[in-house]
Amino acid sequence: MPLVSMNAFLPQAKAGKYAVGQFNMNNLEFAQAITEAAMELKSPLIFGVSEGALKYMGIEYTVALAKASAEKSGLPIALHLDHGSSFDVAMKCIRAGFSSVMFDGSHHSFEDNIRLTKEIVKAARAMGVSVEGELGTIGGTEDDVSLDEAHAALAKPEEAIRFYEETGVDALAIAVGTAHGVYAGEPKIHYDIIEKVAAAIPVSIVLHGGSGVPDEMIQKSIAAGVTKINVNTENQVAATAAIREVLNKDAKVYDPRKYLVPARKAMVDVVKSKIELFGSAGKA
Ligand code: 13P
Repeated sequence: MPLVSMNAFLPQAKAGKYAVGQFNMNNLEFAQAITEAAMELKSPLIFGVSEGALKYMGIEYTVALAKASAEKSGLPIALHLDHGSSFDVAMKCIRAGFSSVMFDGSHHSFEDNIRLTKEIVKAARAMGVSVEGELGTIGGTEDDVSLDEAHAALAKPEEAIRFYEETGVDALAIAVGTAHGVYAGEPKIHYDIIEKVAAAIPVSIVLHGGSGVPDEMIQKSIAAGVTKINVNTENQVAATAAIREVLNKDAKVYDPRKYLVPARKAMVDVVKSKIELFGSAGKA
C-alpha cells in the first residue's frame, strides 16, 4: 500500500473513540520495530519525523524507509513531518513524498500562527496531504529544542476552536500539560481543555509528549477526546537500555547487529504496549 494521509484513518479514530499512535522514526531499526509491532496488532500507524531526525537520516532515506514499511506491511501508514518550522520545510517534505505535515506555529503570535498554518493547509490540501497545527506551547525537550515547563502555555479552548475554524487543519495539537522528553514528576493533564475542544471541532486532537504518561492518564485523555498520541522518548530509552546491557555484559562486542537486534526488540515491545493502550489494535 502507498503512504496515506492521516485522513485515511483519523476520522475513524474520532468516531470510534480510540487513538492512533505517532511513533517517531529516527533510523532503520525504529522503522522496522514500529512496523513489526503495528503488523502484529493490525493497527494504522503514523511515522513522525522531526527536523532533527530528517537531518540525521536524510530526506531520501526517510521517505524510502517509510515507503518500504507501507509496502511490506499493507497497513495504512502516514509519513508525517513533526513540528515543521516553516512553509519551506513543509513543502520540501511534501515534494519528497511525505503524506502529512505538522506546522508548529506556536511560537508566533496567535494571528500569525493562523495565517502561516492556513498557507500550508492550502498547499498541502491540493496534494492530498494532511496538516496538523499547534496551539499553546508544549514544554520539555525534543531534538535541540527545549522549553522550560514553567514557560509552556496551555491552549485556550476558544482560541483552539477559532484556530480550527480559520485554518481547516486535519488535526490539532493543543498544549494540555504534557511535555516532550522524560518527566521529572507526573504530568498534570487538563482534561477539561481536551473535552471542550474535542466536542467543538470535527477533527483529531493530538497529545504530544506521550512518553512516561501513566496508562490511566492516557485512557482518560482518550475518553476526553484525544485521537492521536505522539511517542518518541520511550522508544529511545528502551533501545538505549538494551544496547547498554549488551555492551556492559561483553566489552568485546563489535558487530552492531549484536546490540541493534535487542534494541529493535525492546522497541517492538514498547510500541505494542502503546497500540494496545491507545485502542487502535485491529483497526487497520
Ligand atoms: P515524547 O518524546 O515525550 O514521547 O514526545 C514525542 C512527541 O510529542 C513528538 O512530537
